[in-house]
This record gives sequence, C-alpha cells and structure tokens, in this order.
Amino acid sequence: MTVRPILTAPDPRLQALSMDVETVDGDIRALIEDMTESMYAAEGIGLAAIQIGVAKRVLVIDLDQKEGNKNPRAFINPKITWASEEMAVFEEGCLSVPEIWDDVERPARIKAEYLDADGKKQTLEADGLLATCLQHEMDHLNGVLFIDHLSRLKKNMAIKKLTKAKKLKESA
Ligand code: NI
Repeated sequence: MTVRPILTAPDPRLQALSMDVETVDGDIRALIEDMTESMYAAEGIGLAAIQIGVAKRVLVIDLDQKEGNKNPRAFINPKITWASEEMAVFEEGCLSVPEIWDDVERPARIKAEYLDADGKKQTLEADGLLATCLQHEMDHLNGVLFIDHLSRLKKNMAIKKLTKAKKLKESA
C-alpha cells in the first residue's frame, strides 16, 4: 500500500473522462488499497482514482472514519439509476480543491449500481451525506469538480485562488 500524491486544480488531468474497469483483478484491488491509504493520509471522506492520476472508474468512500472506526467502501463502475426530485444542499470540499468549501445542491436521494472489490454487482440506496459524497465522487469520473456546480463568478474566484496557491507552493 502506498500513499500517492493527490492532484490539485487547476490540473487538466482532473478533467479527464475515466474509463470503465473491465476486469476487477489484483491490479484494481491494489489501486483501491492505494486510494484508501491516500484518502486517509489526506483526511478525506472520498477519493476518485483520477485524483491520483488514474483514469479508471473507481471510488473509495469512508464516512465513518472520524469516529475512529474505519469502514472503507470501494465502488467500481458506479452508475446512478435513480435520483430524487427532492434536492439537498451540503457544503462541499474536495482534496483536489484545497481550502475551498461551498454549498452545492444535488438530488437528496439516489439509487446506484456498482461492482464491489470482488467484482460482484451491488445496488445501493443512499441519502444524506452518502448520497452527496457518491455524486461528488462520480462527478470526478466525468472530469467534473464541485466548483463546476457554482456560479461562474464563484468558480472563477476559486480557480484564481487555486492558481495563486499553486504558484506560491511551486516557488516555495
Ligand atoms: Ni472531490
């Protein structure tokens, strides 16, 4: 298991369309382990493979870890099969969008299907933070960041801040 560096915006790789996993094999399970370690090291609750530069449709999520009780879940080739008309607003952040948080409105409840780390097809109904987190992570697979859901003004301000932070870091 290796903690891998997490890409931060603006980075064109974060806009890549990730590809379906064809076979859930040892390589994918190793990727999931690295993603899980990287997520914990960065103190995040979710991570998409593209955030460590791998354009595959793989996510890891663990909403429980803050209670000192690790329960990582992997989602391979996840798809939303139903979304409620009712919307919910959560303040979102992202390991690839450091130091920025903002409200994003998304369907409050979803149904999804995916493959687990054993390659078995699973279905799930989610609400609350899990529904939001899954939608946020699935956006990454399509090259979308949460700041893409904000007004143009807010998004531009966020990109300016991120670009400036990156320049400072590079020159440090
Ligand atoms: Ni994110």
